[in-house]
Amino acid sequence: MVGQIIASALAAKGHSVMMGTRDVRMTLERDQKTAATRLTLAEWHRQNPQVRLGIFAEAAALGEVIFNATNGFGALPALESAGEANLDGKILIDISNPLDFSQGMPPTLFISNTDSLGEQIQRRFPGLKVVKTLNTVNAYLMVNPQQLAGGDHTLFVSGNDLEAKARVTQYLRDWFGWKDVIDLGDITTARGTEMLLPIWVRLWGALQTPVFNFKVVRQG
Ligand SMILES: NC(=O)c1ccc[n+]([C@@H]2O[C@H](COP(=O)([O-])OP(=O)(O)OC[C@H]3O[C@@H](n4cnc5c(N)ncnc54)[C@H](OP(=O)(O)O)[C@@H]3O)[C@@H](O)[C@H]2O)c1
Repeated sequence: MVGQIIASALAAKGHSVMMGTRDVRMTLERDQKTAATRLTLAEWHRQNPQVRLGIFAEAAALGEVIFNATNGFGALPALESAGEANLDGKILIDISNPLDFSQGMPPTLFISNTDSLGEQIQRRFPGLKVVKTLNTVNAYLMVNPQQLAGGDHTLFVSGNDLEAKARVTQYLRDWFGWKDVIDLGDITTARGTEMLLPIWVRLWGALQTPVFNFKVVRQG
């Protein structure tokens, strides 16, 4: 769902995009429809033929900037299969959340408090410039959030590399229409945004829609 929305938005801006998956043929044969687009991956791909599909290693090799839109449990395995050499020195925009749905709803966090998935990725791949962001909004709102939910929207970035964070903040503005982006600090601050998910999930239940966001109101 996230991958499709990000890939379509980037392709619409004229970027060359490849979406990674474990097995291209099996992914195209899946009959499961994505909630956001109500299309199977094959149907979506027919509507977005400019987005190439490849295995994770091919997508990582091609990408100057890489988005991690994998299931939380799959994040490290997907990056392992992408290959360290294909990741080294690149920016990874990490959208994943450590959500565990194995006991049903609401999900729990399988990493929290003293660690985060963003940190685990950064520790495992020290050559990667991990910037955690976009994980606190539903996929529908990742691109031009004002269009679906009017008003102001706040987004957060966390990461150790200042230049990478500045570039990602600019990408968020230029590619996806974000205006209020708060730099929380180094990658350990991803603990804070990943731990927003429990309240996010309960707001979803209370509001009966995933189309909402947080706005941080401050003085001055
Ligand atoms: N959905 C949202 O609105 C939303 C919003 C904010 C953040 N997020 C976070 O963004 C991430 C993506 O969410 P999503 O809903 O778009 O999709 P998802 O169903 O959580 O993840 C799909 C992706 O995960 C990969 N994957 C799953 N298990 C794997 C494994 N064992 N090894 C390697 N790769 C594996 C899949 O690869 P294949 O293609 O090979 O199956 C696919 O690329 C999640 O971490 C989620 O928490 C989602």
